[in-house]
Amino acid sequence: MRRNKITIVGAGNVGATAAHWAAAKELGDVVLMDIIEGMPQGKALDLMEAGPMEGFDANVIGTNGYEETANSDVVIITSGIARKPGMSREDLLKINADIVGSVTEQVVKASPNCFIIVVSNPLDTMTYLAYKVSKFSKNRVMGQAGALDCSRFQCFLGMELNISVEDIKVMLLGGHGDDMVPMPRFSTVNGIPVTELLPKDKIDKIVDRTKKAGGEIVALLKTGSAFYSPSLGAVIMAEAILKNKRRLIPSCAYLDGEYGLKDICFGVPTILGANGIEKIIELKLNDEEQELLKKSSASVAGTIAEMKKLKGMA
Ligand code: LAC
Repeated sequence: MRRNKITIVGAGNVGATAAHWAAAKELGDVVLMDIIEGMPQGKALDLMEAGPMEGFDANVIGTNGYEETANSDVVIITSGIARKPGMSREDLLKINADIVGSVTEQVVKASPNCFIIVVSNPLDTMTYLAYKVSKFSKNRVMGQAGALDCSRFQCFLGMELNISVEDIKVMLLGGHGDDMVPMPRFSTVNGIPVTELLPKDKIDKIVDRTKKAGGEIVALLKTGSAFYSPSLGAVIMAEAILKNKRRLIPSCAYLDGEYGLKDICFGVPTILGANGIEKIIELKLNDEEQELLKKSSASVAGTIAEMKKLKGMA
């Protein structure tokens, strides 16, 4: 039986850690691709040599070209530069748009039937670019953001409540920027709304920390951005697709009227299964939530418009 094949483009911190998670979960064989000579090969070999200790069977191959990536089932795009302190995700726009555009063209040539999961920032705009460049159907191109942002929200709620993160379930909508929209009303501890367990001021603080959590890590690291959690976000999305789990994971999807939005890639609750994005769930939002979502979508639409201008896209 053929094993699944997962290509990870970009062997920096996010890409290499995604390879680690994917191999440790035995999702399939992993190809780690980067233009820097020797680096993906070295990291791949090192990871493969860890297999006997952890007991995972996965071939992990490093490469500088796309031939080795041929006929991948899932391709995770992590290429591009990461934020430094003081930079917003949008500051990366020009450089990363050029990189993600050309990476997508080559990914599609090598793996015409793959699913693409974008991790590069600014996330929603890079996902939109990959969707347009790939010419794939909209169920096959998505961005990793909601998985990570939800996990951060869960983590902070767990820390405050002193309850296992296993029992905390949350919902979060919107772009992967500082105006993302964590949704306390749809967040529970095994069904108990968090609004029953914590006072409003505590929840507000956690919501605020969640929105700025990426920047909190950038400020601490000083030389780059988060990688353990963003890479796992992409890998659990890949897992949901490859195992046809039909998990409900908020992800960045191309919208065609959902939530009143068109021609934008934006974070919404998605069911992920064998067909990629199987379904987008539309929640009934109250006025305040709608207002917050509008603000987030306006900022994503602004960045997409700027990217289109830079790339000369119609
Ligand atoms: C973050 C970056 C990777 O949220 O987008 O940490």
